[in-house]
Amino acid sequence: MSSSQAPIRVAVLGCGTVGRQVIRLLQESASDLAWRAGAPLELVGVAVKDPAETGLWQELDPAYLTDDATGLARQADIVVELIGGIEPARSAILAAFEAGASVVTANKALLGSHGPELYDAARSAGVEIYFEAAVGGAIPILRPIRESLAGDTITRILGIVNGTTNYVLDRMTTEGLGFAEVLRQAQELGYAEADPTADVEGFDAASKAAILASSAFHTRVPVDAVSRQGISHLTLDDIVAARATGHVVKLLAIAERRGSEGVIVRVHPALVPRKHPLASVRGVFNAIYVEAEAAGELMFYGRGAGGRPTSSAVVGDLVTVARHRLTGGLGPGESVYLGLPVLPAGQAVTRLQIRLLVRDQPGVLAGVSKVFASHAVSIETVRQTAGDGANGVDLATLTVVTHKAPETALGRVVADLSDEATVVAVAGVIRVEGE
Ligand code: HSE
Repeated sequence: MSSSQAPIRVAVLGCGTVGRQVIRLLQESASDLAWRAGAPLELVGVAVKDPAETGLWQELDPAYLTDDATGLARQADIVVELIGGIEPARSAILAAFEAGASVVTANKALLGSHGPELYDAARSAGVEIYFEAAVGGAIPILRPIRESLAGDTITRILGIVNGTTNYVLDRMTTEGLGFAEVLRQAQELGYAEADPTADVEGFDAASKAAILASSAFHTRVPVDAVSRQGISHLTLDDIVAARATGHVVKLLAIAERRGSEGVIVRVHPALVPRKHPLASVRGVFNAIYVEAEAAGELMFYGRGAGGRPTSSAVVGDLVTVARHRLTGGLGPGESVYLGLPVLPAGQAVTRLQIRLLVRDQPGVLAGVSKVFASHAVSIETVRQTAGDGANGVDLATLTVVTHKAPETALGRVVADLSDEATVVAVAGVIRVEGE
């Protein structure tokens, strides 16, 4: 770096947990970052909703603050967007491109729903958009997919990409507590949002799954093409039944490529065998398990949320974009040359563990197995646990695990089991993945 190198002007939009840590890193590591980038990274402003509130933060001179995100975005060489959500983040990013600035963002919801609009706008303007922090927080996963694995063919990704749900499921498993109680405690500890819908209903994971699948399969996968089920319906009985069959329950983002036929992307809870590497991902940690034709299996593991870990990925992107700016080149943009169809999740092939409450009487197993056979679904194992005969009724729990079958056939089995005379209740249905 020459001593006369003009600084690169950096604007930060949004000053929450991640924004503050990004600013802290820019200030504390200014000299190292200048050497790594090739020029000083000069903070020119910070956009916040209410500058008076953020004034409580002593480390930032109030002169940097503005509530005009779009105006600030036009005055920088690189804009770091950490506002989150769709608007005003989208407009500010588009304004940055128009003004010739590149953008670094962690905004998975915006990329999941408006990614192509932003990638196209960046390309037209001859600038870049980098978003490593949008999936897996601190974990380097998008650059490995887009660059390190560019010579390989990725066939499948299984990801634990939401820390809140992993924390809740982990504590249900290790402490035997119910969903509502663990969630309440997680909120008290600040691990879960006051409104936890985006996390526990799988919306956050679905956005990340769309970004992962788009990058891995060179195909546009919008978030609304991702089939989604959250974890709020899971009970302690589901967790206990998982343990009994040697599994743990995880919320998985699953992206699969079926040759040239298409891709299927889904988010749902699943039983993962205890011996699978994803089973050992505990607490708020994330991990992304990638299967590629030449590389085989890879796993990327680390902290998927939190201000300081996420700031590592954001500032890493910032240095990369700054380097490109100085050398005049651009990193890889959106790659959609395959344009594979996104297939309905009903075409996914999976296995189910179904828990049935049944009358403990002759012919029950025959009736139940007939339902599976009628939809050409093969049973792998059946376990029966006798009831206690309470209320003079002899009931038993049947836990049936199927072999692999199409989702649609499995769905029909579950519907027909509910109508089967000897089945008192379908107590739990959960997919089995990772085998
Ligand atoms: N709410 C997310 C999680 C934060 O729990 O993982 C990072 O996207």
